[in-house]
Amino acid sequence: MASPLLEFLAREHPAFVHVPLGLVIALPLAMLMSFRPRHPHAWKITSLYIAAIACLGSLLAMVSGLIWGRQISLIAPDGFMPHVATSKQVLQRMLQLHELAALVGVVLGAFCTFLIWRSLREDRVAADVDPHHRRAIDRGVGIPALAVALLWVGSWGISGKLGGILVFGNEETNRAAAEADAAKRADTEAELPIRALDYASLEPATEAPVRSVQHSNRWVRVWVTASGIDAYKAGKQLPPGAYAVMSTYEDVKGKPGFEPGPLYFRETKSDGTPYVAFYWPRVPEAKRSETGGEDAVYLRSPDPKVQACMDCHKKQ
Ligand code: HEC
Repeated sequence: MASPLLEFLAREHPAFVHVPLGLVIALPLAMLMSFRPRHPHAWKITSLYIAAIACLGSLLAMVSGLIWGRQISLIAPDGFMPHVATSKQVLQRMLQLHELAALVGVVLGAFCTFLIWRSLREDRVAADVDPHHRRAIDRGVGIPALAVALLWVGSWGISGKLGGILVFGNEETNRAAAEADAAKRADTEAELPIRALDYASLEPATEAPVRSVQHSNRWVRVWVTASGIDAYKAGKQLPPGAYAVMSTYEDVKGKPGFEPGPLYFRETKSDGTPYVAFYWPRVPEAKRSETGGEDAVYLRSPDPKVQACMDCHKKQ
């Protein structure tokens, strides 16, 4: 976001919203005053101004909220609503409701403004027909307009309440944040496949490297946890909690010997779900066509790029 004005607009969203909110709370009071015999016309005009400024202010608040949501990546750069993929995304769900309630308020607000304006116009028409005919003027803005104004306050009340939670948090959002934090901390392999790197501590399933057509014709050697080696040798599925690592080696062109290739990892998680990982920390320049140009690769479930591993391994 280059423009400092937009930056300011976005960051101050929690402050801006109070302008239309304050006006819309004052609006029903001004409207009520128009039902009294004293200065009904003046109170109608006051109500019209309050309602119109509240509508304009809400547009500013909505634009600033949208920019803010996009800046902090709760909303996609070209989107208008957050995308809710799982029920764990408490913040996104709340933001959706927050936006919907704000939008309903704006629609009600525009309608309410229109009703007040129409009531003022009726006064003028009535006065033109009969200058002494005061009934239309004395009637106030009308009960429907007042009811719509109260609904307007209600929907913005809901939107404001949710907005407050989004900014300051409540039990549910704080718990969701704590859970996400704990999950991140518990994920010790987010940066490095630590268990795969320690493959030499496992049981070797083959005596020496063999060529594997399925894995880019590399020399491979398989290592399995003690808990899974018997099942592996019997050609059975790995039991829950067991994993296998395939270390790989490649011929050095024109020289005797090998250089290390990528590590392949396959696990049956303790809940029975399959998990795979692929780690290639240094991709030689000549092989970067295999990795889409990347010079280092660490992929793991549920990344869609490891779907090919899953598909083939399911068949075995
Ligand atoms: C075309 C099928 C195919 C694909 C694709 C494939 N594999 Fe394999 N994989 C095999 C077969 C077959 C074996 C058995 C050993 C061998 O013949 O190399 C194996 C062996 C393994 C092993 C050794 C443990 C075991 O179960 O035998 C691991 C770990 C592994 N693959 C991980 C992966 C990962 C990670 C990927 C994706 C990056 C992948 N594989 C892609 C077919 C495949």
